[in-house]
Amino acid sequence: MDFAGKVAVVTGASRGLGAGMAAAFRAQGVKVGVCARTRPSLEGPDVVSASLDVTDGEALEAFGAEVARTLGPIDLWVNNAAILTPIVFARDLSSADLARHLEINVIGCLLGAQVFLRHRAEEGTLINVSSGSALKGYAGWTAYCASKAALDRLSECLAEEEGGGFRVFSVAPGVIDTDMQRTIRSTPKERFPLLDSFLQLKADEAFNSTEYVAAEFLKIAFDPAAAPVEVVVRLAPQA
Ligand SMILES: NC(=O)c1ccc[n+]([C@@H]2O[C@H](COP(=O)([O-])OP(=O)(O)OC[C@H]3O[C@@H](n4cnc5c(N)ncnc54)[C@H](OP(=O)(O)O)[C@@H]3O)[C@@H](O)[C@H]2O)c1
Repeated sequence: MDFAGKVAVVTGASRGLGAGMAAAFRAQGVKVGVCARTRPSLEGPDVVSASLDVTDGEALEAFGAEVARTLGPIDLWVNNAAILTPIVFARDLSSADLARHLEINVIGCLLGAQVFLRHRAEEGTLINVSSGSALKGYAGWTAYCASKAALDRLSECLAEEEGGGFRVFSVAPGVIDTDMQRTIRSTPKERFPLLDSFLQLKADEAFNSTEYVAAEFLKIAFDPAAAPVEVVVRLAPQA
C-alpha cells in the first residue's frame, strides 16, 4: 500500500517505540507530528515536533492544531506515550504515584483522543498503545496493568460513541527492547517476581522491532482488508 502524504501523530516519540515508529512512518512518506517531554529529534518540512507533557491539555491542543494547520487534517493519531513505573506491590503503591501514573497513561490518552477528534481527517484512526498487561495481572505492575486495562475500555467506549469515519483500536504491540524493558530488567525480583522471564526474553532477543509494529499500525489504519474486527487487538509476535 502507498501511505505517502498521510498525516500521523505519534506521542512519546523522543525514544523507544514512538521514535522508531515515527521514523518508520516517515520512511513510508507519511507526514508526522511528534511530541514528548523531550522534544523529538526528527526534523524536516514534513515534520512537526513539540516538547510537551501529554497531561497538559492546552499544550496538546496547540500541538494538534499546528500539525493539522501545517501538515493537513490528521489521518492517524497514536497515543503511545506512557510510563511503567512505579514497579511496586499494591500494598506499597502511594495514591500520589498511582494518580500521576493514571494521569499520564489514561488521562493523557483521553486528552490525545479529544484533540484528534477536533483535528482529524474525514476518515481517521486512533490507535491507543496498550499492553498484554491490560488483560492479565502481573505482581509489581498494579499501576501499569490498571492503566492499560482502563485504556482498553476507554477505547471501546470511544468506538461505541463516535462514528462517521472515526475508528479506534487499543493495540498491544508485543515486547520491544526499549528503555521500558531496561527498567523492567533492572528491577529487583522482590518487586517484580517475573524478572527471570524478561531476562530470558533479552537472552533470546525475542522482541518485536519498532519497524514491524509501525508496519502493522499502518495496515490497521489504512488497509481495509487488514482492519481488526475487535477494538482490543494484540499484535502477533514478529516472525
Ligand atoms: N517496550 C515494550 O516492551 C512495550 C510492551 C507493551 C506495550 N508498550 C507500550 O508501548 C509504548 C511505548 O513504550 P516504550 O517501551 O517505547 O517506552 P519508553 O522507552 O519508556 O518511551 C516512552 C516515551 O513516552 C514519552 N513520555 C513518557 N511520559 C510522557 C509524558 N508525560 N508526556 C509526554 N511524553 C511522555 C517518553 O519521552 P519523555 O520522557 O521525553 O517524555 C518516551 O518518548 C507505551 O505505551 C508502552 O506502555 C511497550
